Amino acid sequence: MKIAVVGSGYVGLVSGACFAELGVDVTCVDVDRAKIEGLKEGVIPIYEPNLDVLITKNIRSGRLKFTTDIAECLDDVEIVFNAVGTPPKKDGSADLSYVYQVARAIGSSLNRYVLVVTKSTVPVGTAAKIKEIIAGELAERGLDIEFDVASNPEFLKEGDAIDDFMKPDRVVVGVDSDRATELMTKLYKPILLSNFRVIFMDILSAEMTKYAANAMLATRISFMNDIANLCELVGADVAMVRRGIGSDSRIGNKFLYAGCGYGGSCFPKDVRALAQTAGQYGYSMSVIEAVNMVNERQKNVLFEKFSDHYKGEIQGRKVAVWGLSFKPGTDDMREAPSLTLIESLLEAGCSVRVYDPVAMKEAERILGNRVDYADDIYDCVLDADAIFHVTEWKEFRFPNWEIIKKVVNIPLLIDGRNVYSSQDLVGIKYLCIGKRD
Ligand code: UGA
Repeated sequence: MKIAVVGSGYVGLVSGACFAELGVDVTCVDVDRAKIEGLKEGVIPIYEPNLDVLITKNIRSGRLKFTTDIAECLDDVEIVFNAVGTPPKKDGSADLSYVYQVARAIGSSLNRYVLVVTKSTVPVGTAAKIKEIIAGELAERGLDIEFDVASNPEFLKEGDAIDDFMKPDRVVVGVDSDRATELMTKLYKPILLSNFRVIFMDILSAEMTKYAANAMLATRISFMNDIANLCELVGADVAMVRRGIGSDSRIGNKFLYAGCGYGGSCFPKDVRALAQTAGQYGYSMSVIEAVNMVNERQKNVLFEKFSDHYKGEIQGRKVAVWGLSFKPGTDDMREAPSLTLIESLLEAGCSVRVYDPVAMKEAERILGNRVDYADDIYDCVLDADAIFHVTEWKEFRFPNWEIIKKVVNIPLLIDGRNVYSSQDLVGIKYLCIGKRD
């Protein structure tokens, strides 16, 4: 089977490499010439564990190719995936201009049947719009070529993307024709044969499923953060409450960790886009709006704890920030809680020294010379009046606290991920989320 995947960003590259690994002939398409030339040589533009190995292996096997020209591969493939970016616009809605550009490019060069599948996260109703655009382009060319559209949202987590693809909880496929169903069944046969679930449904429900899944997960996090803040006020411990409620099988124990807020390119954008879609239909999703509001507030709690601890006397203080990416296993800093914290610290006149095992280059791109960059966690805390633990990288798990106590100015650790405990930290003042100190 031959397919094309348009958009060699995170979703497109992971999907393209994984389909190739499953035996499909894949051509990845992107308008960025430098990126495509790099990929042909095995240079991977994003950080994702094992993706480099998978891409190099499948380039060698001849099943993974790269091009900048979408028209070049259209005559040869049965399915085209649209996996281009949908960045957020100022009003919170998704910018679909790249998605529609791809639809126009397909319509203007299509010569035979193809199934056009949306993988990017797009608002409900986008597949219908894509269908309209392709049909319009074909009509302009005076052609009557059959084609189908489908929706196949992705549920990959950054840092675990390859496993998530190969061993999915489920694959969701939205279709509206038998031919599309047949093609998608053929494509996902290796997944079906390994007994993973592929759920077929109508296109609108598939589009909605993606937003509902992310919004539900984000809701769990904001809910737990709200509970954590109340735990602090009443004197309870959110870690105990999590264990207490997570053992109810209806609730389940995953995704219940309170912290300094969720970030990344998905939850914040998708939660806001869902509220925006509801607004377009004259409906207000109060729960979803609150999820976003609670998260924005939560990203400030580390700074508030620091400021409260020093009774507002924070100007000129030196601080260390451990962890910059929005979560471990990635260099992605989009909407990262570390950025909210650092902005507040800089605004308050603190000097900030940062360290992250993977995201230092990305941090320099975003923060430039407004902060200092350390070589490791110990170098980061020299003379510090506070250490902030923001991203729970494994290498931060067991530091040598004796060294840290010696080199800091004031031994204060503010833990945004509740990874340590005050028992481990004799002689260091420890503040965390959802438990009174
Ligand atoms: C998320 C979803 O988990 C994927 O299923 C989905 O495919 C993806 O968005 C997407 O739409 O593309 P991702 O953004 O990579 O994946 O990251 P997650 O591992 O879900 O973490 C998101 C944020 O939630 C992180 O900032 C993390 O620190 C935070 N989080 C997670 C918590 O604060 N508490 C938790 O219990 C779990």
